[in-house]
Amino acid sequence: MSKDKLFQPFQIKNHTLKNRIGVAPMTRMSGDETSIPRKDVLDFLVRRAENGAGLVYTEALVTDYESAQGYPGQARIATQPQIDAWKSVVRKIQDAGSKAIIQLFHCGRMAWPEINPAKRSIAPSAIAPKQDNPLTQSPYPLPEAMSQFDINHVINGFVQSVKGAVEAGFDGIEIHGAHGYLISQFLSSYSNQRTDGYGGSVANRFRFAREVIRAVKENIPDDRMLLFRISNWAIADMEVSLFADREEWQECIHLLDEEPIDAISVSTYNFKTPAFGTDKNMAQLTREVTKLPLLICGKIFDRQTADAALEDADIALSGKSMLLNPDFVEDLRLGKELKVYSSEAANIAYTQEPLP
Ligand SMILES: Cc1cc2nc3c(=O)[nH]c(=O)nc-3n(C[C@H](O)[C@H](O)[C@H](O)COP(=O)(O)O)c2cc1C
Repeated sequence: MSKDKLFQPFQIKNHTLKNRIGVAPMTRMSGDETSIPRKDVLDFLVRRAENGAGLVYTEALVTDYESAQGYPGQARIATQPQIDAWKSVVRKIQDAGSKAIIQLFHCGRMAWPEINPAKRSIAPSAIAPKQDNPLTQSPYPLPEAMSQFDINHVINGFVQSVKGAVEAGFDGIEIHGAHGYLISQFLSSYSNQRTDGYGGSVANRFRFAREVIRAVKENIPDDRMLLFRISNWAIADMEVSLFADREEWQECIHLLDEEPIDAISVSTYNFKTPAFGTDKNMAQLTREVTKLPLLICGKIFDRQTADAALEDADIALSGKSMLLNPDFVEDLRLGKELKVYSSEAANIAYTQEPLP
């Protein structure tokens, strides 16, 4: 591997990324009733582009108005003011020579019904997360198992949000299939115990993801990227391995590989950690079954970890270091000694305090 891979361009579809380091998607909960993030939260994304990031992800935006939302203050891209607010951010990110990618999701059983207009919690199966909702300190409600109407409604929510994202000019759209939210709940046999065509085998559990991908794809012009984020960890019931073993993971990646997507983003706690009892990390296990561009995230915090991550992936994403160190990209270029930021330090993301 070339030593300078990190600062070499990379092509995804018709888009040339100027380097291989990007801002990972990070939820901020800063919006008011307009579901538009605070100005300083949007400015933060632009600043990271101006400071050299090759690609910049938005926070995860919620899709339909019925049951998608899991946290207060989350953003949407449905109304004209919402679309216009993002349009201006996208243009500034692009003017800085970076690529703007929006992440879209539905929280499923991690939703907070009271903050959703329809006050519902829906999921593949009626299985609640075991832990309490950290924001309410009380148990998550038992979700309703989704009907076919619910499935169609949620898919339409993705489609309508994608239309907003396209109008706002985003270079890429990512379907959030990671971290135990709705799509991830379908992928896992733990939270998906359906006996219809959406449950059972890996191929059946993948069906909902496939229907979302295909529905949104029809609404994405050829000059935009479609990405999919996936993980083997979830923010609830952390001890559960979402995929039973290496075979299940690779079968799912293989199914993704057959879909009309342009890249796969794999989210981990630590990209180096061997997975599924093998001596290989998640990027290596993923790479074995797909040639699609691969993004990797999880404890990439200095030049050494970024270079190591790029041995098995094409693009390195960083969450906490991008959040807390405005000079992160330049520091990587200089090979500076850098620290690992704690999750506690990252909680600043959810305060009114402006970020550096
Ligand atoms: C404040 C915060 C918010 C996050 N929100 C999201 C999100 O909206 N969508 C997502 O896919 N991951 C989210 N993540 C996970 C990050 O994208 C990333 O995978 C994680 O922080 C690990 O990378 P790191 O070790 O570089 O921080 C969030 C992380 C943090 C710290």
